[in-house]
Amino acid sequence: MNRKRIFSGVQPTGSLHIGNWLGAIRNWVELQKSHEAFVCVVDLHAITTPHNPKELLENTLSTAALYKACGMDPDISSIFVQSHVKAHSELCWLLNCITPLNWMERMIQFKEKAIKQGDNVSIGLLDYPVLMAADILLYDTDLVPVGEDQKQHLELARDIAQQRINSRFGINEENILKVPQPLIMKEGAKIMSLCDGKVKMSKSDSNENSRISLLDSPDLIRKKIKRAKTDAEIGIEFNNINRPEADNLLGIYSIVSGLGKEKAAIECGEIGWGKFKPLLTDALISALEPIQKEYFILREDNDYLKKILENGQSKADEVANRTLKRVKKVMGFLQREI
Ligand code: TYM
Repeated sequence: MNRKRIFSGVQPTGSLHIGNWLGAIRNWVELQKSHEAFVCVVDLHAITTPHNPKELLENTLSTAALYKACGMDPDISSIFVQSHVKAHSELCWLLNCITPLNWMERMIQFKEKAIKQGDNVSIGLLDYPVLMAADILLYDTDLVPVGEDQKQHLELARDIAQQRINSRFGINEENILKVPQPLIMKEGAKIMSLCDGKVKMSKSDSNENSRISLLDSPDLIRKKIKRAKTDAEIGIEFNNINRPEADNLLGIYSIVSGLGKEKAAIECGEIGWGKFKPLLTDALISALEPIQKEYFILREDNDYLKKILENGQSKADEVANRTLKRVKKVMGFLQREI
């Protein structure tokens, strides 16, 4: 029986943080056991805001290495770089031409990022969600495991597939593109900043102390958790309305310690911040240690890493080119063998 397929990706902008891991990558690692997984480093998305070429190159390799270090297995899953599979850009263009502009102007992430860019907003930033739709739709994806902030982008991908391709170009009610489902887990889908429990943890936050990066040293983790915002209450509890910082840090602890929500809440329900912070620090350091160890071994051998990405590309190319051909055919393009 054919396994269901998942597709997801992370932008190689800055270093990956525990939000990316707990909200997304950790779930891919579990899902690859039961699903066919395609995961890519979305480098084309990374240039939608001003970028530094040297950093893009380094971040592309480090992101790929982190996928593997977090547990993505290249023997069973396809790990590749988005720009290596040309069908992503081509399908994006086709989808651009059938997607209404006012759908794009509603995108929350565009509005937020556009405010930060001032006069410097690129067309690419507005187009970001269409490229993301192309990524997903090329693989006849069943499920897209992502964090909560991607929900609106997923809805757009579904609308493009259903309303703009299938209903307009489908023949005899047969779907041209599969309509994907988002997979947003209850736990870890929205990890908040260490400096403000009401703001999402983000790679682009100018304050480094707002996030724990997957490659932070134990000393740095200790410092950042020490500085993390607290409140004046005793007892750490899940309460995202009145105690957003306690809620967020206890949520992180419940996942990285492996205890789960209930046991973590019991363990920490009566202790103060002075006792809780070292517990969280130790749990984070132990959870990240094996990832960091594997990461640094992998980075000694970029040739091996590039081999993984080449294999991933050839598996991705095969599936993506088939879908692209199908879409071009129904849109009326003169067919040629590719
Ligand atoms: P990016 O790089 O911004 O985020 C990568 C993944 O990490 C999740 N995430 C979080 N989860 C929990 N808490 C947080 N604080 C947090 N911050 C980020 C994101 O939800 C995401 O799952 N647009 C995508 C990249 C992309 C993509 C795709 C994803 C491009 N094409 C196709 C899925 C399918 C993004 O958000 O990247």
